[in-house]
Amino acid sequence: MCGIVGGIVDSNIVPTLLQGLLRLEYRGYDSCGLSISGESGLRRLRSISRVKDLAENARDLKSRSGLAHVRWASHGRPTIANAHPHFSPTAGEPLISVVHNGIIENYIELRARLIASGVSFASETDTEVIAHLVADLYRGDLLSAVREAIASMRGSFAIAVMSSRDPDRVVGARAGSPLLVGRAAGKSGYLVASDVLALAGVAGEAAYLEEGDVFAFSRDDVFILSAEGKAVERHWFAVSSSVSTPELGPFQHFMQKEIFEQPNALADTIDGVQADLVTAQRGEWDFGDVDSVLLLACGTSFHAAKIAAQWIETHCGIVANAEIASEYKYRVSVPGPNRLVVTVSQSGETIDTLTALRHAKRLGMTRSIAICNVGTSALVRESDRHLLTRAGLEVGVASTKAFTCQLAALFALTLAIGRAQGRLSEEMERDHLTQLQGLPDKVSAALALEPTIISWAQALQRREHVLFLGRGIHYAVAMEGALKMKEVSYIHADAYPAGELKHGPLALVTPEVPIVATAPNDELFEKLYSNLQEVRARRGFVYLLVDSDLSLESDDDLRILPVPLQRGPLAAILHTIPLQLLAYHIACLRQTDVDKPRNLAKSLTVE
Ligand code: G6P
Repeated sequence: MCGIVGGIVDSNIVPTLLQGLLRLEYRGYDSCGLSISGESGLRRLRSISRVKDLAENARDLKSRSGLAHVRWASHGRPTIANAHPHFSPTAGEPLISVVHNGIIENYIELRARLIASGVSFASETDTEVIAHLVADLYRGDLLSAVREAIASMRGSFAIAVMSSRDPDRVVGARAGSPLLVGRAAGKSGYLVASDVLALAGVAGEAAYLEEGDVFAFSRDDVFILSAEGKAVERHWFAVSSSVSTPELGPFQHFMQKEIFEQPNALADTIDGVQADLVTAQRGEWDFGDVDSVLLLACGTSFHAAKIAAQWIETHCGIVANAEIASEYKYRVSVPGPNRLVVTVSQSGETIDTLTALRHAKRLGMTRSIAICNVGTSALVRESDRHLLTRAGLEVGVASTKAFTCQLAALFALTLAIGRAQGRLSEEMERDHLTQLQGLPDKVSAALALEPTIISWAQALQRREHVLFLGRGIHYAVAMEGALKMKEVSYIHADAYPAGELKHGPLALVTPEVPIVATAPNDELFEKLYSNLQEVRARRGFVYLLVDSDLSLESDDDLRILPVPLQRGPLAAILHTIPLQLLAYHIACLRQTDVDKPRNLAKSLTVE
């Protein structure tokens, strides 16, 4: 995780580096930094504040070449010493500057070897070993030094390196983390970045490096070597000349804006996915012989996958399991040749999900569908098929509209599988689709509950622990509510299936530890309501989301919020909306950094 941008151009590169960092901030914002080369060698500026702060201090910097980085801390705290670029040597004139995404897994061993040979370290990072390794191997040829250094590194990384002795050269490599090179637009020069976003408007065209590639460029020339050391050409594509800067409009935060964008995002997703499925089924998509479904995802996307697994078992009559991607790839599992692998990801770049997909493929499960919000992402590229959600750009680190759009896409996919399996009649499918199409209006009605949610937020803002309860698919809704609460308000929140409460978590219930429960008016309602009576009997305070056709009154220890009525599977989407708003408004009251919560990042490309 982290972001890289750098290059050599024929004008001042510093504004390009800073603009690139601003666009990459979603990949990490624990610290940021840049190094430039000039007549007096390599210079560096780093900050543990945001890129805006770095930009303030970089106003007088000028150079035609440099490297820059935003960091999501993995090895070592977010301090200035740990911020990139890393230099070698640490004392005197620096020879080498390095920026790095990913993790060097054998860095402890490499660090010990370097220390034994007299190298002193200035940081706690794994990255610093790269700088010292390259410096140690440098004999006047940066490319050779980098290639030799890489040979002793294990892990997943993308790096870019400069040397003070050869300021007109950048060398870099990709091994597990994305990296691309770009040709400067309309002038001479080359650029490197970990995300094409950083190159929009500054590069005319760009090429993604492939696994194991090493590149070197000067102002006038670029060449790429494959993992086998052969000179290769990669596919160059045109880079968009601008990036639309997301506007907040009347909203205070992007998270709030994105919560309120859900009716439109859902309508777009439902239309798009339905059309895609119709075309796909006329073509070669056939779910008739699928005998089970494996859903792989992380974070919020995992909660969507968990809900979908239950939908698929209910409506398609085949086994469906949702697995946390980072766990799945390391456990011994039984593959199924007719199993459909469904990956779910907003960004399509989450390395855990990507590597879980690769693992499933290695096990022989070649039929895969990515449910993703980014059509150009690695997950989409590596999947057999894809269904795109049309949530639009999601800026808030805590995912909201992407989640509900994933659910809409997964529901449409469930119906397609159910039909192909002969479990859903045409009439049943049509009925479900009508419900799905009516969802955006109901979500708008759920958003109108905001004033009540604000009053709940005021009551809950000083609590340090909250328990979330649900049953059936609403257990996963409760998990998503708890995750949102943790992410943006920093309140410790856990979710339980309501029936599990008495098996342990009930011990936590006091007047200081409130319960938030999601309880649609379904066959489990009475069971869940009994579980809540057990809470109230122990002086616990309950905040309860119910369907609007239930006539329940609030009480001293019970607050009721009727949610617009949506019978059946899609109630999960409607009950999610108040939980998103609750986390958001508590975060505002607690004055947290809502759109960039501490320690988190929007897209995690390290394991
Ligand atoms: C990060 C984000 C979460 C997100 C998760 C999975 O942890 O902070 O909001 O749910 O990654 O991301 P994906 O892009 O794969 O859905």
